[in-house]
Amino acid sequence: MNKDFAHTPDRFLSHLESLFSVTLQDAREIMFHFHEEMRRGLAGERSSLKMIPSFVSRPKGTEKGNFLALDLGGTNIRVLAVELDGKGNATLAAVSRFVISHEAMGGSGDTLFNFIADCIQSFFREQHLGMQQACDLAFTFSFPVEQRSIASGKLICWTKGFTTSGVEGRDVVALLAEALQRKDMGFIHVAALANDTVGTLVAKSYADPDCDMGVILGTGTNACYPEKIARILKYHCSGASAEMIVNMEWGGFDKLKTNRYDQVLDRASHNSGLQQLEKMVSGMYLGEIARLVIVEMIEKGLLSLPAFSEAYALTTEHLSNTAQGQDLFSDFGLAHVSAADRQTIREICRIVSTRSARIAGAAIAAVIAWMDADLESSHTVAIDGALFEKYPGFNNNMTDMLLDVFGDRAKRIKLYLVKDGSGIGSAIIGAVAASARR
Ligand code: GLC
Repeated sequence: MNKDFAHTPDRFLSHLESLFSVTLQDAREIMFHFHEEMRRGLAGERSSLKMIPSFVSRPKGTEKGNFLALDLGGTNIRVLAVELDGKGNATLAAVSRFVISHEAMGGSGDTLFNFIADCIQSFFREQHLGMQQACDLAFTFSFPVEQRSIASGKLICWTKGFTTSGVEGRDVVALLAEALQRKDMGFIHVAALANDTVGTLVAKSYADPDCDMGVILGTGTNACYPEKIARILKYHCSGASAEMIVNMEWGGFDKLKTNRYDQVLDRASHNSGLQQLEKMVSGMYLGEIARLVIVEMIEKGLLSLPAFSEAYALTTEHLSNTAQGQDLFSDFGLAHVSAADRQTIREICRIVSTRSARIAGAAIAAVIAWMDADLESSHTVAIDGALFEKYPGFNNNMTDMLLDVFGDRAKRIKLYLVKDGSGIGSAIIGAVAASARR
């Protein structure tokens, strides 16, 4: 590192800007490596993209009925009742949200699955639903799962800070069914298991046939797309359908240019060496990257702030609020912060979040180019997650990257927010699975 780089905050920030930049050349390299890793993952070769077949294809829009879904994401559990009218409209009839406790995230598998079963029980009580009538439930489980069928799959490894013991390598549908039995709710049948990206894609494509990508930009990040079965070389079964949605687990992509802050964050994390893209892009980590920059600037005397020594004390929500002009410092008990320091912090937030959005944009560009190299068709990308929904300018920064890569043809790509998509989509998947059994 050049020793002269940082005598003033301004010089430090311009050094930081170059450290976090994602140029068009970088984007082309990301796309190239994505295609390599996608090919390997689909062939069953060693790859940082797991490319997991989901046993689901896109819906027809004619699926009909009332369905229950359980959505276990990063920080929340949601139980949802979804009504499908068979004409492309999916309505959220009821939803209950529960915050996942620290014991459930880091304790035993039984504690976690008992907690989930308790959440379902509370939902039944809150919605005054009868406790005995047989019903189907779709399970959105937003972690890497080696899926064996539409309603079974083993957890490969935890991500997003979960360390619950005794779940990796086990079938999560069976674990949920056992917990439901323990709580006298054996009348609930787990009909489908889906990743949140797959739910999001299915929810949007229920009404929009142009939708061919599902992306999550929230606590974690990931994407899926419909792949031709003939190209999934590691998948040996044949089915009625010519395509199957593939959960890429793109958070694991490991061919990005990391800097010293990324390396420090990774070394201190629960899953060091894994989830490189996720750690540079997703909401769980952006606050921590910014905090590491702030701590270094404090140490160098370039910021005169006393706080920020606690890991993960600065969240992505703080960054997002700062970008909206809100006061970040009162949350940390700091009343007298100079205008110059405030401006420096805003710049750090902008630099860290812009890199995230540009990497996400390059990753979307890679998947679209894989499906349609000359961008001949229109593509709707269904996106869920607070980073995309709430972070000021995130969407524009992603769109700028798509424009850099594809020029005018980028207009054929529509980025679309699908709120609650993961839960609604898995209910649609549940509907397909339930009708197949009848
Ligand atoms: C993590 C999980 C992945 C999920 C994503 C978004 O990357 O491994 O399965 O889709 O977070 O929630």
